[in-house]
Amino acid sequence: MPELIGIGVGPGDPDLLTVKAVKAIQNADTIMCPASNEDRPSIALSVVSPIIDKSKNQEIVKLIFPMTKDKAILEKHWKENSKIMADKVLSGKNVVYLTVGDPYLYSTWIYMHREIEANHPEMKISVIPGIVSMFTFASKVGISIAEGAEKVAIIPSCYDLSSVKEIAKNSEVLVFLKDGRYFDQVIDLLKESGFPENSIFAIGQDLGTDHEIIRKMTLGEVNDDSLTTKYFSILVVKRV
Ligand SMILES: C[S@@+](CC[C@H](N)C(=O)[O-])C[C@H]1O[C@@H](n2cnc3c(N)ncnc32)[C@H](O)[C@@H]1O
Repeated sequence: MPELIGIGVGPGDPDLLTVKAVKAIQNADTIMCPASNEDRPSIALSVVSPIIDKSKNQEIVKLIFPMTKDKAILEKHWKENSKIMADKVLSGKNVVYLTVGDPYLYSTWIYMHREIEANHPEMKISVIPGIVSMFTFASKVGISIAEGAEKVAIIPSCYDLSSVKEIAKNSEVLVFLKDGRYFDQVIDLLKESGFPENSIFAIGQDLGTDHEIIRKMTLGEVNDDSLTTKYFSILVVKRV
């Protein structure tokens, strides 16, 4: 029976693919991957390109998910893309869908899975987890994401940030994902919330790539040069 597998490809370094992910990708008939538009490469696909055997001529399908917060546009693409994916499986192909990091953290897979499960309850669907970007970052900078009784908040920075001050008062560790271009606003809010100046502040951009940037300091030492400018950025602040 043909199946659909959602695969987390980790944060960018092909060496951080799981053995199970490599086997599933190499055995697939069709490899599907997200991209923000036709002209842009799929980051998830670029992570796995070293392990794809070109001589096998596996079909590769790039699915477009525009970078927008417009719910109507997003839902239209979720429906269209999930139909493309389901139709391919129904035609008898084993399909894998690649996502950066893990498929169940802020990933397009979540919407694909939900749609396809609702429309094709009989379809065989499974998921292979991937190494989450924030844990890769923790390893690189040597910060524990949580220890003992510590509470952690994961916050997407590109949405409404009005609750950040309250969350900061009630958490020991805050992890900000989704878009380094908003981190200047995040830092102002942290300072306004009274988050201690001696807290660890670590920021990473494009982890696992040739142009990776990593900085570690205290919250009190942060200035404009400490920030990153790209979507693929992570910020961790931790009380000491
Ligand atoms: C749509 S979310 C996907 C998260 C992913 N599913 C995971 O498990 O890490 C994209 C965000 O993840 C973070 N991210 C993922 N990969 C990254 C990398 N290689 N370097 C820096 N940040 C990364 C960034 O915060 C980025 O804005």
